[in-house]
Amino acid sequence: MTEPRKIHIKTFGCQMNVYDSERIAELLAPQGFAETSDVEDADVVVLNTCHIREKAAEKVYSELGRLQQLRRRRQAAGGDLLIGVAGCVAQAEGSALLERAPQVDIVVGPQAYHRLPELLHRHARSRSAALDTDFPLESKFDRLPEELAAAPDISAFLTVQEGCDKFCTFCVVPYTRGAEASRPAAAILAEARRLVDAGAREITLLGQNVNAYRGAGPAGEAWDLARLIGALAEIDALRRIRYTTSHPRDLGAALVAAHREVEKLMPFLHLPVQSGSDAVLRAMNRRHTTDDYRRTVERLRRARPDIALSSDFIVGFPGESERDFRATLALVEEIGFAQAFSFKYSPRPGTPAASMRGQLKDHLKSERLAELQALLARQSAAFQAATVGRILPVLLERPGRHPGQLVGRTPYLQAVHVAAPHARPGDLIPGDLIEVRITASHAHSLAAEPLAGRAGAARRSPQGYAACA
Ligand code: 5AD
Ligand code: SF4
Repeated sequence: MTEPRKIHIKTFGCQMNVYDSERIAELLAPQGFAETSDVEDADVVVLNTCHIREKAAEKVYSELGRLQQLRRRRQAAGGDLLIGVAGCVAQAEGSALLERAPQVDIVVGPQAYHRLPELLHRHARSRSAALDTDFPLESKFDRLPEELAAAPDISAFLTVQEGCDKFCTFCVVPYTRGAEASRPAAAILAEARRLVDAGAREITLLGQNVNAYRGAGPAGEAWDLARLIGALAEIDALRRIRYTTSHPRDLGAALVAAHREVEKLMPFLHLPVQSGSDAVLRAMNRRHTTDDYRRTVERLRRARPDIALSSDFIVGFPGESERDFRATLALVEEIGFAQAFSFKYSPRPGTPAASMRGQLKDHLKSERLAELQALLARQSAAFQAATVGRILPVLLERPGRHPGQLVGRTPYLQAVHVAAPHARPGDLIPGDLIEVRITASHAHSLAAEPLAGRAGAARRSPQGYAACA
């Protein structure tokens, strides 16, 4: 038998890239590639890339510079290294990427990576770069292997929808990921069962616009996300369901009702608003106003009073006035976010906003970003602190760094270090859903002790949030 070749996949950007990287590993395993976490050990390196902001794309080129040096060292010693670029930079830049980084052997877009085995063969035959940035008619999902390459994490990702038809004027996604497309419900349910059978206890449904999900149901009728969530909740050993990322415009009554009715659906929602100014939202082509957003949040809070919200913000969009920016701060104050991501507007080639008048100076964007981030940091610290003393269900995900410690998450996605030094071996294991008392809050995590205290077995929580104080 020949030695397996080693592949190292480095992932940039969003959770969908994390999911895609796992699928790439599965796709190449039958071709004799074993995954390695050490780039020095790899025969093939694939960068799975992100194009959302300039900084993310530039990171890829610095990484390619480092890989070229590694290849030169290898070649000097009689070896070699094959370099592939997948994901959104590959899609957006295509052959321009090969001009700027001629060391790249393979370029493959996010909708064509099921063709990687062919691309590797093509490259081996021609010894020249192989490129595929098509949006093929066939769906990659129909061509991906069903076997998992490795045991899934306790909390696993599952892509249900891809692409975007919204065309926000700042965003490259509709160009890099293509038009909205949803996977059939049966394929998703089968994949979820495989993940759960292999040990996953939480599934996060992924899509660029996940709540626009409209997949074919088993009888050919269209299912929406709420219906899909309802069907997934029937998988017994699956304890928690999440979904991301949602667009405020597609958050309809059925999904709001799912937050009230489906116990396994976690009360934490990432719902990007981008700006608190209606003028800016219009220029962004967001197709929702600040009032629409307020109303949606109200409906969600009525359905699930303990729901915690997260959001994305862009500051310094072309034409954003001081008043517009103050309106964003005011909206943040009004809504209150448990967590958020915020960015300086980054002009992206080919998007409408990049050629709008009124581009802001970088120092102004930086000042606004610092002010917004200070406010968001205060809110998330307050949210963390408010959980101290509460009894919460925690899904244990992995052993911690210290003996007797386990790391899990609350329903609100907060990382929790659970101290169980006196538990008997086997009392608590990753995958358990237990009740804990939160004892302290830090910037990025919480500390907790199992509810049964020092004596051993913690009380198993029957459901995701049954024990909320
Ligand atoms: N500049 C800055 N931030 C952007 N985002 C998307 N495009 C841009 C851009 N051109 C942000 C949005 C989106 C998140 C994933 O990235 O806030 O929700
Ligand atoms: Fe980009 Fe807007 Fe689509 Fe989100 S909804 S992926 S921001 S175009």
